[in-house]
This record gives sequence, structure tokens and C-alpha cells, in this order.
Amino acid sequence: MTVDDDVSGRVVILTGASRGIGRGLALHLARRGVHLVVTGRRRDRLDAVSSELDALGAEHLAVVGDVADRDGAFALAAAAVERFGRIDGLVANAQTFRSVTPLEDVTEADMDLLYGTGPKGTLWLMQAVFPHMRDQGWGRIVTMGSNGALNGAAGYGPYVASKEAIRGLTRVAAREWGRHGITVNCVCPVSVAHRTPPTDDPQRAAVFAATFANQPVARDGDAEDDIGPVVTFLLSDACRYMTGQTLMADGGAIMLR
Ligand SMILES: NC(=O)c1ccc[n+]([C@@H]2O[C@H](COP(=O)([O-])OP(=O)(O)OC[C@H]3O[C@@H](n4cnc5c(N)ncnc54)[C@H](OP(=O)(O)O)[C@@H]3O)[C@@H](O)[C@H]2O)c1
Repeated sequence: MTVDDDVSGRVVILTGASRGIGRGLALHLARRGVHLVVTGRRRDRLDAVSSELDALGAEHLAVVGDVADRDGAFALAAAAVERFGRIDGLVANAQTFRSVTPLEDVTEADMDLLYGTGPKGTLWLMQAVFPHMRDQGWGRIVTMGSNGALNGAAGYGPYVASKEAIRGLTRVAAREWGRHGITVNCVCPVSVAHRTPPTDDPQRAAVFAATFANQPVARDGDAEDDIGPVVTFLLSDACRYMTGQTLMADGGAIMLR
């Protein structure tokens, strides 16, 4: 295989593909010929994306599951191998979000939810795909952080902590698994245009409005066309000498810090 960014025929597990960024990534990767294993918790939403992937002629498997379930991660990897014979890439995109809470009011349940579906869920999936990637001497893992986490967004304590934990795991995996031909990188969006500005929560509305003020690329991001190409590169052979890195897919918003 030549060293390029062609991802056609690659087998990629993409979690949280039933809506939002994950759905956009699924459509982008499908257009590039990736064989996808897509997940989400709700069958009806997953079926809708499955229909869109069918319309694109994309080979795929849709699996319902919760990323907090460690056994589920290994079952997912097994299902991917059974269907496609191997696993080339993982995009650990899904994470459950909980609304804004001032730090002094954060509960153990808030922390458990964000950690269970964030760093822990990401780690279980990394562990599940690792043996397959190690044995074939090639693998690409993409994790999801957030611009807001690097910025310490007020009111997002459990989310910020969980996202930065994911970046930490990304660097450890990059170090431990680089010798097996596996690269591991983290993508940090700022805001992606699948949700309307929050109207019921003044603190969130203020964060949302401030996001685009003075941002170098002064607009909301698009999952398919703005985040998709970045993830495609990270899943490709071209991303063979870059690992353990954080890529800010955020219109330059990080420079506003
Ligand atoms: N959108 C942004 O502006 C933004 C900015 C920075 C970072 N991010 C990060 O990018 C990723 C995607 O964000 P998003 O905004 O697209 O999320 P979203 O719209 O809330 O969608 C989340 C996706 O993950 C699935 N999901 C949620 N919790 C899950 C769980 N416990 N187990 C399995 N699947 C689960 C959802 O499916 P079901 O509903 O069917 O379960 C859905 O497909 C997240 O890691 C997020 O933190 C997003």
C-alpha cells in the first residue's frame, strides 16, 4: 500500500454515530469507502443512520450499546472482526453529556457518568481493539476531547475533567503502542452545528455566544466537512509519524485563550 490518505476498505469502529458529530463522521467516512461499525444507545436513531449509510452503499454494521459497558466494548470488537475480519481504526466519539453545573454543586453521580462514558469508555474500547491492531502491526485510534476542556469552561467541571483524562490516555496509548504501528491522536472540536443555541440555560447560552466572537474562522463547525477530513487523515496511512497529539478542529478558537 502506498503512503497516502486513502481510507477506502479500512474497517473502522465509530461510536456515537447516530447523531451529532458521529453521524457526520459516519457519512464522511462512508463516502470515502470506509467499512464502518457504528454504535449508539437508541436503535431507532441508529436505524436512521443505517438507512443513510445504505443509501451511500456503505458496508456497515450497526450495534446498539452503552460505551460505559466494558464487556460491551469487547463484544463490539468481536462483532467487527466477525463481520469484516479485522479492525483498522477506532473513533471513540460517544460520550454522555450532562448540563452545566457549578463546581460547588457537582455530585458523585455527575462525575461517575462523565468518567464512565468518557475516559473509562474510551479506555475499554482501546483495550478491545488493541490486540487486533497489534497482531496486524497497524492501527489508528482517534479520541475526542474538547476545546472547552482545554479552556476550563465554567460550569462544565465533570466534562472538562473527563475530556482532559481522555487526552492523557491518548498520550499513554501513543507511547505504549507506537511500536506496534498504532498511532493515537485526539481531536478537539469547539462547537459543531447540530444543536441550536441553548435558550433555557443563561450560562450555557453565554458560553455558546462567546464561542464565535473573535474566533479566527468565525462560524460554527460542520461535522461532515470540517471534522470529517481531520479524522480521515488520522485514520489513514498518512498519519504514521504523528501520535499522541491533540488536533484543535475548532476554527482557531483555541487561540482566544
Ligand atoms: N458538538 C460539539 O460542539 C462538541 C464540542 C467539543 C467536543 N465534542 C465531543 O464530540 C463527541 C460527539 O459530540 P456530539 O455533540 O456529537 O454528541 P451528541 O450530539 O450528544 O451525540 C452523542 C452520540 O453518542 C451517543 N451516546 C451518548 N452517550 C452514549 C453512551 N453512553 N453509550 C453509547 N453511545 C452514547 C449518542 O447516541 P444515543 O443518543 O442513541 O445514545 C449519539 O450518537 C463527544 O465526545 C463530545 O464530547 C462535541
